[in-house]
Amino acid sequence: MGASLYEPINVYKPIAPDIGIVDGPFEYLTVGGIRLPLPFTTRMTVVRLSNGDVVLHSPVEFDDRLAKELQRLGRVRHLVSPNQFHYAHIGEWARAFPETISWASPRVRQRALARHADISFTRDLDASAPDEWGLEIDQMLFPGGYFKEFIFFHKASRTLILTDTIINIELDKISEPWRTAAKLFGMYHPYGQIFFGMRLPLLFQRRKAKAAIAKIHSWHPQRILLSHGRCIDSNADEVIRRIFGGPPH
Ligand SMILES: [Fe+2]
Repeated sequence: MGASLYEPINVYKPIAPDIGIVDGPFEYLTVGGIRLPLPFTTRMTVVRLSNGDVVLHSPVEFDDRLAKELQRLGRVRHLVSPNQFHYAHIGEWARAFPETISWASPRVRQRALARHADISFTRDLDASAPDEWGLEIDQMLFPGGYFKEFIFFHKASRTLILTDTIINIELDKISEPWRTAAKLFGMYHPYGQIFFGMRLPLLFQRRKAKAAIAKIHSWHPQRILLSHGRCIDSNADEVIRRIFGGPPH
């Protein structure tokens, strides 16, 4: 069985008022500049702010028709790279929308430079949300060593927005070797788990991990959006307890 997409792709799928997702086309693992025939899917989250600005979190490949659809939501303004691995399409969106601010995650500048990606980041994400979206979205840096990422919480819809922190692959939608890897590390639906690369760093940074998990609990998310695999749209509290443990005392 081959890999399959979260059809339809490149269309805005509303989740709740002012927030939705766009499932993208296949991405391919690149090692040493060589694109390997190993497709996987990725997803972006779109948030409309109260001033009409639109945030694209982990943008999928640029698509003209999609860009027009998003313009109908508001003014595409913020392009967010939540971690150093999700940045590849920010340059394409920034060229189409020159007024956008491109937000950098830790190490993403070096990574983009090393891969000769045509992207210039304008601002850096910080431990707390910037004025630009602080009213609608909270954020924090989730510890994970090399794999650390910024995670976000859309307050009105109580949506936790993750990138790679939790992976929840649907085994029948992915081909080898991802399928075996997802099984091996328990990162598949309905048992989605913390991305395996983050687990050891989390053990070594207990204090930071505890604080981050306490913050996730304090948000009381109702649903969890993920970049890879199936999103979690019910029992988010239960899923968070299973994956991260209960709120620390
Ligand atoms: Fe990823």
